[in-house]
Amino acid sequence: MCGIVGYVGSNEATDFLLEGLRRLEYRGYDSSGVVTIDEGELQITKTAGRVEELSKALKRSPAKGSTGVGHTRWATHGPATNENSHPHLGGDRILALVHNGVIENFREIKQRLVQHGCVFASDTDSEVIAHLLAIELEKKTEDTLNEIDPYAPLVAAVQNTLVQLSGTFGLAIVFRDWPETIVAARLGSPLVIGVGEGEHFIASDGSPLAGHTDKIVYLADHEIAIVTADAIRVVHRDQGDVGHDVKLLEIDSTEVELNEYPHYMLKEIFEQPEAIRNALRGRLDKDEATAVFGGLNLSAQQLQKVKRFVLTACGTSWHASLVGEYMIEALARIPVEVEYASELRYRNPPLDTSTLLFALTQSGETIDTLAALREMKRKGHPTMAICNVVGSTIAREADGGIYLHAGPEVGVASTKAFTAQCVVMSLLALYFGRLHHLSYEDGLRIIADLEALPEKVERALETSNHVRQIASKYANCNNFLYLGRQYNFPAALEGALKLKEISYIHAEGYPAAEMKHGPIALVDEKTPSVFIVPRGAVYQKVIANLEEIKARGGPVIAVVDEGDHQVADLADDIIEVPKVADFLQPIVASIPLQFLAYYIALERGCDVDKPRNLAKSVTVE
Ligand code: F6R
Repeated sequence: MCGIVGYVGSNEATDFLLEGLRRLEYRGYDSSGVVTIDEGELQITKTAGRVEELSKALKRSPAKGSTGVGHTRWATHGPATNENSHPHLGGDRILALVHNGVIENFREIKQRLVQHGCVFASDTDSEVIAHLLAIELEKKTEDTLNEIDPYAPLVAAVQNTLVQLSGTFGLAIVFRDWPETIVAARLGSPLVIGVGEGEHFIASDGSPLAGHTDKIVYLADHEIAIVTADAIRVVHRDQGDVGHDVKLLEIDSTEVELNEYPHYMLKEIFEQPEAIRNALRGRLDKDEATAVFGGLNLSAQQLQKVKRFVLTACGTSWHASLVGEYMIEALARIPVEVEYASELRYRNPPLDTSTLLFALTQSGETIDTLAALREMKRKGHPTMAICNVVGSTIAREADGGIYLHAGPEVGVASTKAFTAQCVVMSLLALYFGRLHHLSYEDGLRIIADLEALPEKVERALETSNHVRQIASKYANCNNFLYLGRQYNFPAALEGALKLKEISYIHAEGYPAAEMKHGPIALVDEKTPSVFIVPRGAVYQKVIANLEEIKARGGPVIAVVDEGDHQVADLADDIIEVPKVADFLQPIVASIPLQFLAYYIALERGCDVDKPRNLAKSVTVE
């Protein structure tokens, strides 16, 4: 969602802050700001709009200083204005802070603070933290004025503030009277510290650190960090001073560069063959005709006893979970339920001890998915994460899991993470199938299908130019239907989501036969239907649904197997993709649907990598 950066060292802080905020732009935001400490004064610069505006403002009026924090804001409380942008000031300019997350009890706190005489400069929930902290700091009671520990008043004030908040926060704070210190704190909103030589970096994820350091410290919930150029001290709410592990940051700065591509989304679409190879690497065991995973942390005997799966996720990851449901039920014959994480977290479904929960998440930070995982863990169910971002909160909190290894996904619209998630789902289906009744021969056949997949996806990428022409033909339409059956129903949902999120066109995904029960009323000559109709078990059934649309004058774009003449004679436009086994069809069919969304968005002049209102990593509820 929003992004946080911080710098303390001997260089100009704004150099890292601006570069870091640019690297975090992909997360989605609508305003930005920085604060530095220059000659004992807090220097704040904030602008609504792009980081470029902030950069221009800083050129006009530079903010000097080698300690500072910065923020990109995605509006939750109050519109995107300069005033609502972070940082927010507390007291008589004694501190400034940036905040990710949501403070749920901010109204009560604000009322109290206004009575106390505080004047608010913004509509945000975050500003209450700045005022509360200033009041706590001014208290400086006898027992915190401790000569041995000069940070005691600071730590006490921060802790006394945080206990008053309910909600989630990632906080980075600078203080006029501690000019060479940043305090970072987290509860439910990620924060990391990059360890440099005589300098430290703060960020809400690892991407701003790439190229500056490969040493990273992940802050955990209820921890606050006191960070100076030379030291990191971590204090836990209940345990007092705790140590911190320095881990290896696995992002290569070249992986987050655009290279010759105009947009991250296009780059990531083309990275899919490699992402799939990486998701498969080392995980196929031909001797046993099964899949192997290093990190499930459960024995084969324990996994054998699993009688039911719950897959939970949001958005595109939820669609990958649906693909997984079809795969696991077909290949492993184990019942699967797919739950929206935002619903599961507040439900109390009757699950027995033989249920295994998988949380699917590209970022590993989606707050609803994290909350659902914690709720299931609390109830004693083993939890697994299927994650792309190494070291993310969900990856660390789950009992075990599988990394996608798709490489950083920067485009807001998820592409390669989706196909990599589907691949991991197929590996799980193979693995659990082989634990039960899937034969050795069937296992080998599935392995052969998976091994052939990257090359099939490469060929599907060759549809790019053709899909571009189709996109220009339909770019003016304002409604689309996406229709498919069985494995391709989730692919239809995902195709529709891609189109709506980056081109702002209304699109609905439906099981192809279900459209007769209502959505068919939408069909007219200006409402194209995108059919996913490769040859397979329900091929003729989907053709029948396609004819129903044609009979009502609706234009049809069809994704078909190479050489399919039957559908070519019926559809207005066809996109041919290589033939694959039924369970892999949603992966191959998704490629042209990603192109379709991308090129239509371009035709309509939309900002593909930074779609309006969206955030890459949704860390608020
Ligand atoms: C759509 C998209 C979102 C995410 C969703 C979950 O293109 O990217 O729908 O899939 O916000 O995010 P993760 O997978 O990071 O939990």
